[in-house]
Amino acid sequence: MKHIETIREMQSLALGWKRSGLSIALVPTMGALHAGHVSLIKCACQSVQLSGKVVVSIYVNPLQFSPNEDLAKYPRDLQKDMRICQEAGADAVFTPTDSLMYPFEEKSGDPRLKHSTYAVEETLTQSMEGVARPTHFKGVTTIVAKLFNIVLPDYAAFGNKDFQQAAVIQRMVRDLNFPVQIIRAPIIREDDGLALSSRNIYLSTEERKSALCLNQAIKKAKEKTSKDGLPAEELKLELKTFIENNPNTKVDYIEFFNPETLSPVSLVSTGTQIALAVFVGKTRLIDNDTL
Ligand code: PAF
Repeated sequence: MKHIETIREMQSLALGWKRSGLSIALVPTMGALHAGHVSLIKCACQSVQLSGKVVVSIYVNPLQFSPNEDLAKYPRDLQKDMRICQEAGADAVFTPTDSLMYPFEEKSGDPRLKHSTYAVEETLTQSMEGVARPTHFKGVTTIVAKLFNIVLPDYAAFGNKDFQQAAVIQRMVRDLNFPVQIIRAPIIREDDGLALSSRNIYLSTEERKSALCLNQAIKKAKEKTSKDGLPAEELKLELKTFIENNPNTKVDYIEFFNPETLSPVSLVSTGTQIALAVFVGKTRLIDNDTL
């Protein structure tokens, strides 16, 4: 497995592969890899099969964190991540630095010379994570667009744990005509139902117990859902009370929406998507499912 640290080297490797007729699958990550990422790498391997290469990018993108978020303490362990990538079957790991990805930010005191081109999706970002974290998606779509131009993938894999992110990226690819096929992989959970996340390591033992309430709330919603609609606001209130009965929890949002358009629904029925964000202590966790 190759370890690539510069944009120039990554682009020339990718161009070489393309010229030899190989396809490329990209798994963009921020590191702190877990079984969820391994499943993305395996999906990527399957999509290119024997006639292609799989690249995992590891880059904690400052542009998608707001100033009050966990950029500085976001878990980083490159050696462990490299081992995981190798075992999962990746051909290359791309680990650029901030000064390569956003070179003009650091050097210049002159705002006219700063990085100033962004990819912005304007419709699917108007709810949930886009409201709770107003600058987040601009950072995500911009870095993913940059990675697409650097790694030149035919396929790119994203986890459905970040359901809205995957939908936003799919829309960006459609609208801006990136020749990339998006693969959306299912959520991977612990045996007790907790969705895997790099942020789970922030949880204390007590908080880890409380964190189960996200998946339990989804299960509760599933039990109540049928073909006949159920008023969304009533169900939200019930789930909020259920969640906040667990120690150290605070609901950020619970939304019911159409999984294709992400438009909120007023009546919840079979096929409606639920997504929720909950603070457990200081850690903000998200989860979602189709009802
Ligand atoms: O899902 C993530 O880890 C990040 O948002 C991504 C897609 C790698 C962009 O930085």
